Amino acid sequence: MIPVLQEWGRAQLAARVDDVLDVYAEAMDVARSAARSRRAVVAAHLERDGLRAVGALDGDRLVGIAYGYRGGPGQWWHDQVRAAMDPSLAAIWLDDPFEVCELHVRPPLQGTGLGRDLLTALLEGTAARTAVLTTPDRETRARAFYRAGGWTDLVLGLTFPGDPRSFAVLGLPL
Ligand SMILES: CC(C)(COP(=O)(O)OP(=O)(O)OC[C@H]1O[C@@H](n2cnc3c(N)ncnc32)[C@H](O)[C@@H]1OP(=O)(O)O)[C@@H](O)C(=O)NCCC(=O)NCCS
Repeated sequence: MIPVLQEWGRAQLAARVDDVLDVYAEAMDVARSAARSRRAVVAAHLERDGLRAVGALDGDRLVGIAYGYRGGPGQWWHDQVRAAMDPSLAAIWLDDPFEVCELHVRPPLQGTGLGRDLLTALLEGTAARTAVLTTPDRETRARAFYRAGGWTDLVLGLTFPGDPRSFAVLGLPL
């Protein structure tokens, strides 16, 4: 069955947080319990300006998710990313950004064009000038996917407090 894309409002995203985190767990290969410990993080995102979410559904089963919001100063991720950039780079990319927070496709459906369709639908509906995101700074499927979609490397080797992993900040003009 070909998944159907559905734009969600805040209430729909809130109602399906556990499904979102299950897709995240499967796509990122982390334990479901660890993924579900991120409930509070998603709950905080529900309050953000310009929140947009697109779910991919096979019947009622969530098989892919993309969501993000209009980020700005005072928010933890935004401030960390801004601090890692030269002010002139930040002025271009972070003055009016749509921040892609999660984009995940269940493994059996990866490589079928679903990630691209989700991201296109997510970004089509925002009036922001740029899109930005972080992804692990390694040659993953996601890195190849974003490169193919025209995303540019803005910062490499970024680390967040309390997390030993290294991230890349990527940007796309909208
Ligand atoms: C990253 C992810 C969302 C991409 O979604 P996807 O459905 O697998 O990717 P798509 O099939 O839409 O790929 C679109 C294009 O990206 C490129 N691409 C995707 N995977 C690629 C790979 N492994 N190598 C090279 N190019 C790739 C191709 O150009 C592809 O276009 P094509 O099918 O016409 O060749 C998905 O693989 C995923 O959930 N991965 C695990 C979780 C993750 O890393 N999420 C992102 C965290 S920031």
